[in-house]
Amino acid sequence: MKLSEARHRLMVMSGKGGVGKTTVSVNLALGLALYGRHVGLMDADVTGPNVPKMLGVEREFMEAREDRTVDPVFVSVGPGTGIEVASMAFLAEMDEPIVWKGPVKVQVLRQFVEDVAWGDLDYAIVDLPPGTSDEPVSIAQMVAPDGVIIVTTPYDVALMDAERAVGMARNLGVPVIGIIENLSGFCCPKCGHDLSFKAGGGEKAAERLGVPFLGRIEVDPGICRAGDEGKPFVLRTETPAARSFDEIVRGLIECLEGES
Ligand SMILES: Nc1ncnc2c1ncn2[C@@H]1O[C@H](COP(=O)(O)OP(=O)(O)O)[C@@H](O)[C@H]1O
Ligand SMILES: [Mg+2]
Repeated sequence: MKLSEARHRLMVMSGKGGVGKTTVSVNLALGLALYGRHVGLMDADVTGPNVPKMLGVEREFMEAREDRTVDPVFVSVGPGTGIEVASMAFLAEMDEPIVWKGPVKVQVLRQFVEDVAWGDLDYAIVDLPPGTSDEPVSIAQMVAPDGVIIVTTPYDVALMDAERAVGMARNLGVPVIGIIENLSGFCCPKCGHDLSFKAGGGEKAAERLGVPFLGRIEVDPGICRAGDEGKPFVLRTETPAARSFDEIVRGLIECLEGES
């Protein structure tokens, strides 16, 4: 199927880079898969694709078939469970920096949407690159998303950043499903002491902007390590951050499918 035919289509966006969009995209995709949903994850960061590394599959390639469609890469997360992934990293040797301009990037994204032979997807998740350039506009046109998920930080600047992202979504004519506050608070993994120095910026922003708040994810060294080592974080279910992801996934399912 084409990505635009997935039953639910979500874009993960933020007002700026480095706030955890890719982390959130990857873990939401895996989380939904663990609840039995068939998920396709599209890495829309054409010039800086991070998804394959976070999933530990950066050496994979997408192979073109005879009819010129391309199979996505399947990432297993347990017996009979996994997600389908498309990324520029599966098409190119990434030793050379990619310096393509807008129209070429859009062409690649169109191929991910049109030519990748996705399975029978319940969910399509699109991990957007930072910024407000061509990608969100093209993706919004190509896949007509149900909505965007906005990732922001807990700090005071979160309001500004979230405002920008909500404004972008509204310009695109795409509903905002809600805001996730990432890097929110820190519990010492050894002694359990809560070292939170700041939390709540994302929630306040959601309130002020009149959009739903989907939940917060703690600063967790395990997330960073898992991302660097390419081991899906959500599978380690004993940490607070993993529980937060699980709650967000259940909330999303309830919100989008009207059940849990
Ligand atoms: N909650 C978190 N706790 C610890 N590290 C995190 C958390 N969220 C993201 N990171 C780390 O921060 C870095 C940037 O995250 P990333 O998801 O790549 O952001 P973006 O896609 O918005 O640029 C990565 O190294 C990631 O592992
Ligand atoms: Mg990213």
